Amino acid sequence: MSKVLESEDESDPRTFKIHTAHYLWPTLAKPVNRSGDFIAPVKRSVRPLISILLLTVFAVTVSFRAVVGRGARSGAFEFDLIDVLAQTTTAPPAPVFNSTLLRYAGIDMGEAKAKHDIEQLLDGNFGGQGRYRTFAAWRRFNHPEGRARSSNGIPLSLRSPQIYRYWLDFRRVLQEWARKKAFFEPEIMSELVRLVKHPIDKHNGLVGSDKRYSSCAVVGNSGILLKSDYGELIDSHEFVIRLNNARTRDFERNVGWKTSVSFVNSNILHLCTRRKGCFCHPYGDNVPIIMYVCQPVHFLDYTMCNSSHKAPLLVTDPRFDVLCARIVKYYSLKRFAEETGKSLEEWGKVHDGANFHYSSGMQAVMLALGVCDKVSLFGFGKSASAKHHYHTNQKGELALHDYEAEYALYRDVAESPSEIPFISGKFNIPPMVIYQ
Ligand SMILES: *[C@@H]1O[C@H](CO)[C@@H](O)[C@H](O)[C@H]1NC(C)=O
Ligand SMILES: *[C@@H]1O[C@H](CO)[C@@H](O)[C@H](O)[C@H]1NC(C)=O
Repeated sequence: MSKVLESEDESDPRTFKIHTAHYLWPTLAKPVNRSGDFIAPVKRSVRPLISILLLTVFAVTVSFRAVVGRGARSGAFEFDLIDVLAQTTTAPPAPVFNSTLLRYAGIDMGEAKAKHDIEQLLDGNFGGQGRYRTFAAWRRFNHPEGRARSSNGIPLSLRSPQIYRYWLDFRRVLQEWARKKAFFEPEIMSELVRLVKHPIDKHNGLVGSDKRYSSCAVVGNSGILLKSDYGELIDSHEFVIRLNNARTRDFERNVGWKTSVSFVNSNILHLCTRRKGCFCHPYGDNVPIIMYVCQPVHFLDYTMCNSSHKAPLLVTDPRFDVLCARIVKYYSLKRFAEETGKSLEEWGKVHDGANFHYSSGMQAVMLALGVCDKVSLFGFGKSASAKHHYHTNQKGELALHDYEAEYALYRDVAESPSEIPFISGKFNIPPMVIYQ
């Protein structure tokens, strides 16, 4: 079992050199965001316009206050307007992206097949899903002993109302997911607090606040972690994200033990489904899980496990998946063109276009950028002298990822975030440090 888990584990990396190696937060409180925390001198020609805008803001704020009295929202409302105003006056010139690269990055070569697979699944036809030809076959995989039991121990038969309910839930969530997947929504970065932090806050007995976590550590699984004793530093972050259930036991000195959220891909949950109560909690059953779905059939695992986990099991919004996919593909295409000099048409052949995918680590980093005021990366990167994973003996990396492209992205996040395509200019990328 654990062997399979290990080979699925994939948040990875090897050599890439980052200039910002070891230093602690206070020394790098230099935010590298795009629209700036400073107010640039306003050009003469726009001054009258600004005055009118300010007057309008004032008038609207006053009348809004008059309507809502001392309602809690008035503060937020004012803030929104001032924010908009600040952006219209201080936005630096937008970077110019290569439109050919942007266009190619927007093409999802796996789209037709994914659509077909989803339609088949919704019809109850599991023929395209390898070993699970039917829903019943899938059930047998998850309950090989043939005496299926629900999470509370009651035996289940395939025709039982509970199984039927899972089936209906599965169709409902899959349909909703497929619908949203069709949208490219660059503003999704600004929604992550609501989509992810609020449910986690609620689980922790707090009221969902729009304030982001003050500091986050994303802990990748690269063997480079064994070279340093970052454990304490990692645990000193407010929010610690770990990847693909990599174990911390026996490695606390290097990787720490605190876990605020376990970020996994759906292959991991699929394997957990075979265990009693869908057990998938190496960090304790109170730790929320955030999962991205790499195969639509895994929504079956989701619907069965969702009800038996006491901590939230959140599926990342498909619009966020789409954004991550485009960004990584852009970097991969760029690297391909620069290094090979070949036409972008050739990229798909080299990178298994239809199956190409970002890694779990990449999406976890993007998530952290959306919910944290500052981000630290640990265990991302590779080196000839380090193991692939700190906790396994897995040799290679998975071919469907382009790690070099992802490293280039992380470097840009840390050093020149305006170079990152597709992210809405309204979203400020927080400062990030990469520990090697
Ligand atoms: C998953 O479980 C949570 C908590 O029990 C529930 O609020 C949520 O609606 C469930 N999600 C789905 C899609 O069924
Ligand atoms: C955009 O990138 C492609 C591929 O690298 C290159 O062939 C093309 O010349 C670039 N276009 C511009 C305007 O730089």
